[in-house]
Amino acid sequence: MALRITVIGTGYLGATHAAAMAELGFEVLGLDVVPEKIALLSTGRVPMYEPGLEELLTRHVAGLEGSTGRLRFTTSWEEIAEFGDVHFVCVNTPQKHGEYACDMSYVDAAFSSLAPLLTRPALVVGKSTVPVGSAARLARLVAELAPGEVELAWNPEFLREGFAVEDTLHPDRIVVGVASERAEKLLREVYATPVGEGTPFVVTDYPTAELVKTSANSFLATKISFINAMAEVCEAAGGDVQKLAEAIGYDERIGAKFLRAGIGFGGGCLPKDIRAFMARAGELGVDQALTFLREVDSINMRRRGHMVELAREALGGAFLGKRVAVLGAAFKPDSDDVRDSPALNVAGQIHLQGGQVTVYDPKAMANARRLFPTLGYADSARDAVRGADVVLHLTEWREFRDLDPAELGRETAARIMLDGRNALDPVKWREAGWTYRAMGRPAA
Ligand code: UDX
Repeated sequence: MALRITVIGTGYLGATHAAAMAELGFEVLGLDVVPEKIALLSTGRVPMYEPGLEELLTRHVAGLEGSTGRLRFTTSWEEIAEFGDVHFVCVNTPQKHGEYACDMSYVDAAFSSLAPLLTRPALVVGKSTVPVGSAARLARLVAELAPGEVELAWNPEFLREGFAVEDTLHPDRIVVGVASERAEKLLREVYATPVGEGTPFVVTDYPTAELVKTSANSFLATKISFINAMAEVCEAAGGDVQKLAEAIGYDERIGAKFLRAGIGFGGGCLPKDIRAFMARAGELGVDQALTFLREVDSINMRRRGHMVELAREALGGAFLGKRVAVLGAAFKPDSDDVRDSPALNVAGQIHLQGGQVTVYDPKAMANARRLFPTLGYADSARDAVRGADVVLHLTEWREFRDLDPAELGRETAARIMLDGRNALDPVKWREAGWTYRAMGRPAA
């Protein structure tokens, strides 16, 4: 009989994983402790903007017209325990308030709720990003609490927001940390389709699987901070960081991706993952091995302040009484996520220094309003720039790349564009009479 799969936690990761498992042909039951989320998911909808996810859910959620009926949701731990052969734990591990370490309370609660109910043989698979050593600890917990024959595996997830569906159905690689051949066999069965299509399947132990995730995110964060450090040097020396990135990116050992200089990385993963990694290294007595990540973090945070300074300079030295239009609020395009958003951080700093800030984002307005209720908001880019003394481009949505600079210029008080993402075409903006400045590039 085909394996039955459960997914615990239905945020970005869990909702996408549940839908993807149904797409692969499995019967899936998803659980969340928030009843409103379950009610929404049961109608095929999600509480966030994630391209393609609602279409995938609608194709499989039971009770919806024309669906396969393979995907259902519940709030009942008993139902989950009774249903599943393989349980994926997809709850989040946010940064602890005021600390570097991550908060494991949701993971711990999920394992403690599920394990005592597991009376029949099952594999529990952790997908959350956790400090190395957690899987071994949770394996002991499961062995202690579960009445049935239950094993643990760790299977980190590498999906990017905005590409969650694509990354889950067609991952670059699948990594599994296992303690037995039986666990490996079960996971090979779960992932037979992508592996059959050529996705590499890496089998390892618990700590290595956990570390693959944190080290991959640390590498990506380092790459971004590296190019941002080069942007600082380029600005001082009169160089052009975009050309530099293009040129070094042709070297296959370096690669062209993740070399876009600008106001740096944000979101719910990279910033908190590198901090939690440093905290864990400290506990393991190898904090020196990761001191470079402190530098990666501080280069990244410096970018936001630098953007504020560029804006101040463009306004003649002070924000007071000046109108500042901010294009973008999400931490990156194709997402409505504003967690640790560099764009909103810059907007907030300028607001605190007396600037009159108006923000527009194609998808993240509601979340931005909730987080920064004192900023001004507009319903379109055009409305946001009306009467502006300076325009800041802080999240590189396609909509902003497609703007007509001549048309927009007629709305503003001054044609000054500061591109915090190096994503607009300087020639196009300058030809339309704008003063265009980007981070890490010559002024004109
Ligand atoms: C990241 C990892 O990419 C993913 O593999 C992991 O599972 C979760 O964390 P995500 O947070 O969705 O995914 O966003 P990502 O696309 O990695 O971008 C992170 C941040 O880096 C964004 O704020 C983005 O604007 C910024 N960034 C990215 C740059 O500043 N420059 C770049 O060249 C690339």
